[in-house]
Amino acid sequence: MKLKFPSNFLWGGALAANQCEGAWNEDGKGLSVQDVQAFKPKVDQKNLKENTAVTLEGLKAAAAETDTTYYPKRHGIDFYHRYEEDLDLFKEMGFKILRVSIQWTRLYPTGHEAEPNLKGVEFYHRLFTAMKARGIEPMVTLHHYEMPLSLAFSGNGWVSRDVIGLFMKFCETCFREYGKYVKYWMGFNEIDSCGRHPFTSAGIIPELSTEGVDKACYQALHHQFVASALAAKMLHEMVPGALMGCMLTKLTCYPYTCEPMDALATQKRNLENLSYTDVLVFGEYPKLILRDLEKRDINIKMEEGDLKLIKENTVDYVSFSYYMSMTESVSPDAPRTPGNTVLGVKNPYLKSSEWGWQTDPVGLRFSLIEMYDRYKKPLFVVENGLGARDRVEEDGSIHDDYRIEYFRNHFVEMAKAIDDGVELLGYTSWGPIDIISASGNQMSKRYGFIYVDQDDYGKGTLARSRKDSFYWYKKVIETNGEEM
Ligand code: BG6
Repeated sequence: MKLKFPSNFLWGGALAANQCEGAWNEDGKGLSVQDVQAFKPKVDQKNLKENTAVTLEGLKAAAAETDTTYYPKRHGIDFYHRYEEDLDLFKEMGFKILRVSIQWTRLYPTGHEAEPNLKGVEFYHRLFTAMKARGIEPMVTLHHYEMPLSLAFSGNGWVSRDVIGLFMKFCETCFREYGKYVKYWMGFNEIDSCGRHPFTSAGIIPELSTEGVDKACYQALHHQFVASALAAKMLHEMVPGALMGCMLTKLTCYPYTCEPMDALATQKRNLENLSYTDVLVFGEYPKLILRDLEKRDINIKMEEGDLKLIKENTVDYVSFSYYMSMTESVSPDAPRTPGNTVLGVKNPYLKSSEWGWQTDPVGLRFSLIEMYDRYKKPLFVVENGLGARDRVEEDGSIHDDYRIEYFRNHFVEMAKAIDDGVELLGYTSWGPIDIISASGNQMSKRYGFIYVDQDDYGKGTLARSRKDSFYWYKKVIETNGEEM
């Protein structure tokens, strides 16, 4: 089969500001929920549980700490100062698009300021201008695991309804300032993730969640749905022609066996995963989810007009991250393995990364077909990649054939899905340059085509160098996927 991608297919890469920018306390930036997340070398990076680590006392101590060694997101890879050099490398690979996020705390350090911080506003003007000058289209996530820490302390993050208004002030600034550069926007990164890491996704602190973290998560999520609808409405009014998307962690799950109970447990998992984008695409809560919440005694507080607003302001395209798949079983003995902040049952047909994530290229085709059939909206794969340790040879070269193999296999399945009839706008690989890992706050889990000389403790020259995969991806883009 000859692989074919549409002639206007948007090849590129994706970054999150909090994982790459650094400059955590420069030019008026405020403390964010990411600046207090520590790298814990002694903790098994495969089995991280955020919840047990988040305490008020711990957060306050971290906020008072000025060292950056154990808070790697404070220094990132210094993209804040080196973005020109990095964009040159993306241009060399032929990127058509680069997904970035805008840090709320750079524009509104505590969230409460009446006017935005001008130095923060100017930084993103410089960044988008530099992208445009290189022919790279910016794609923007408004909320990528980052919010003012002060809002976590004052109102338990997104649990407080007041956060919606503060976030809309930030969105308005973004659309007014950057609408002229950006066509593709998205609201919340991995909108489904609040239950898996409440503090990272929504600034939720267990001790402040008097009715329990579960209830807090659903309340926060409802506020994020309302904010998503308001943001879509505002974008469409302020920037004609711009598109608002939603973003899901696609956690495709297969039954471990064909035993019907395994299939039923799998169906539950998949329906739960899709329910978040269901709200943003169809404009309503799935009835089965509402029933489930009722059974669990979770009452979401809604204001009059919320549901109408959500119904009337749905998204224009659907984007998702895809790294791995998993299986489900009702058997307590089924062996489990981690993968993107979830635990699933090990699939004997798949290989796993060093972090336990099960590589499944066919699962990408499966997910694309499933999502397109369900939503009938254009899709965008905005994250995909392999976290691995790389070895630098004596001559400085890095032979990452494992990464090339991962991408090649996924691209083949992506092309097959397009051939099946899926409308796919583009693909942005995760972390095209090595950045700090979201879940482990570590540097040694690398995704990039570009190597960054820095270790888990922030030591290194920060020099950038091209891995073998750099030349390979350049060729893929140059030939629009014909040569892999
Ligand atoms: C996605 C997140 O879930 O996974 C990214 O949106 C993250 O922010 C990526 O970096 C990979 O996860 P990790 O933990 O390996 O960095």
